[in-house]
Amino acid sequence: MIQINFVWLLVISSVNTDDIVSIDQFVASIKYCRNKDRLVTSEENDEYLLISAEIDTIIVMECRFCNDKEERQSKIWYYQDRFKETPEKEIELGMDNNVSFNRIYTTSDLSLVIKEIAVTDAGIYLCHGEEGQEIENKFNYRLEPIFKEHGVLYTEQGNITDWEKYREIYLASVTTRFAVSQMFELAEIREVGVTLQVISEWAPWSPCEHCVRNRGIKRSVGNCRLKRQINMTIANKSDSSIVKFFQKSPSLPCKAILLEEQFPAVSSAVRRLPEFILKEVCKKCPRVKKIKDRKFKYIKRFVLAEGAYLTIVCPESTMDTKVSWKKDSITLERGVRQSFRKLDSEARVIVDAFGTLYLIDVSTHEEGNYTCYINNVNMMQVKVIVIPKTRLLTQELLRHLGYLGFIFLLCSFCYCSGLVYTYKQRDKFDIAVPKKDTIDKEEQMPFID
Ligand SMILES: *[C@@H]1O[C@H](CO)[C@@H](O)[C@H](O)[C@H]1NC(C)=O
Ligand SMILES: *[C@@H]1O[C@H](CO)[C@@H](O)[C@H](O)[C@H]1NC(C)=O
Ligand SMILES: *[C@@H]1O[C@H](CO)[C@@H](O)[C@H](O)[C@H]1NC(C)=O
Ligand SMILES: *[C@@H]1O[C@H](CO)[C@@H](O)[C@H](O)[C@H]1NC(C)=O
Ligand SMILES: *[C@@H]1O[C@H](CO)[C@@H](O)[C@H](O)[C@H]1NC(C)=O
Repeated sequence: MIQINFVWLLVISSVNTDDIVSIDQFVASIKYCRNKDRLVTSEENDEYLLISAEIDTIIVMECRFCNDKEERQSKIWYYQDRFKETPEKEIELGMDNNVSFNRIYTTSDLSLVIKEIAVTDAGIYLCHGEEGQEIENKFNYRLEPIFKEHGVLYTEQGNITDWEKYREIYLASVTTRFAVSQMFELAEIREVGVTLQVISEWAPWSPCEHCVRNRGIKRSVGNCRLKRQINMTIANKSDSSIVKFFQKSPSLPCKAILLEEQFPAVSSAVRRLPEFILKEVCKKCPRVKKIKDRKFKYIKRFVLAEGAYLTIVCPESTMDTKVSWKKDSITLERGVRQSFRKLDSEARVIVDAFGTLYLIDVSTHEEGNYTCYINNVNMMQVKVIVIPKTRLLTQELLRHLGYLGFIFLLCSFCYCSGLVYTYKQRDKFDIAVPKKDTIDKEEQMPFID
């Protein structure tokens, strides 16, 4: 039972993609998604998003469009070699419960994470339904490992005028060399009808940064790419492996390890070209966030009859998080059994080692504002109201019949949702962690004061 519980907790903890960064503390992950509004220039160029993946880094590929809502449909990640010589096959994910031991895994939002990128990870990654649904959305990526940068990365930067100069000096000169060079490798490529060109491929604009009086700077990285054109009239005449190679690779990163392996002369001409960072003035400055959000993410209210038992798990808590509870302004220490009644030897309020709060045999003394915090972030505020038995037994009963009905509803509801159950049922601990969507539903319940 407890084993299952751990598995679930781990699944929940992996929701947060920040986890990925925290596992490998010295390597930041780079996230890729497909742009919904991308300009589709040709079928061929739109087949996948080309990713230049530096060896040993972490790559995250999303199975959805950038900034799109989470997809609920089940989808699977497939792999195919870069030349599509073998059929697609389902990706084998790491099976360890602790994601930090898996090199390849998916997060709960279906993103594929690959850590410690190696040359053998090169290929096409496709995310779609089992029966090929949503293939037209093409959440496809081609991962092309590139040389690891040692030392300082050399880049040029400036406005579009500066980029023109950069293009002349770095890119156009190499393109010209490809067109005229008598070097055997380059001449051979030309002979089979392949023309090579070096270009800047622009990444999406960054947000507006360094804003002063609503004016800032946005950046776009011009990635160095080797593009090819094939004259089919010539290419059709030969059965060249060069043509086959470039047919499957309309564009390649200048630093691609594959280029070095296949065409060393081409690689040495483009491998060390600097990238260009284009900067432009922008006006859409993001609004400055408030210094600290004091609000709680979840707000609840419980109306209990005197003598009731209540158990509350702080939402979004996992085995790794530090949960703390407060009653009004008093911190409730973990493992300390306490009572807010005078001369009371019984424990009434307990926070156990897992950070779960128990209210036992409540009276009006236990009424109050209970708040929980995860790693010092405000998570949930729970208002607990206790109706004394005397009030329930008298005339008040009639007036508060609404309450009773509510308590009934609440108790059966809580039991179903797994969020709350009575202290006596504590051994059912393994269902105590709620999923976020059940909490949201609960928030919509009409509360009475
Ligand atoms: C996963 O493994 C890492 C590294 O050994 C460890 O620090 C972390 O606590 C583990 N997490 C869980 C949930 O067991
Ligand atoms: C780019 O910047 C230079 C100065 O660094 C300036 O002279 C030029 O006019 C700018 N070009 C554009 C298009 O803004
Ligand atoms: C392709 O090559 C043929 C033969 O050399 C030439 O006549 C033709 O103009 C070329 N086509 C293009 C688009 O360059
Ligand atoms: C080259 O060959 C393919 C099929 O082998 C054909 O479809 C295509 O039209 C040919 N292209 C040229 C320019 O001859
Ligand atoms: C409950 O306590 C929290 C933290 O002490 C506080 O921010 C909040 O305003 C309180 N709410 C009520 C209704 O007293």
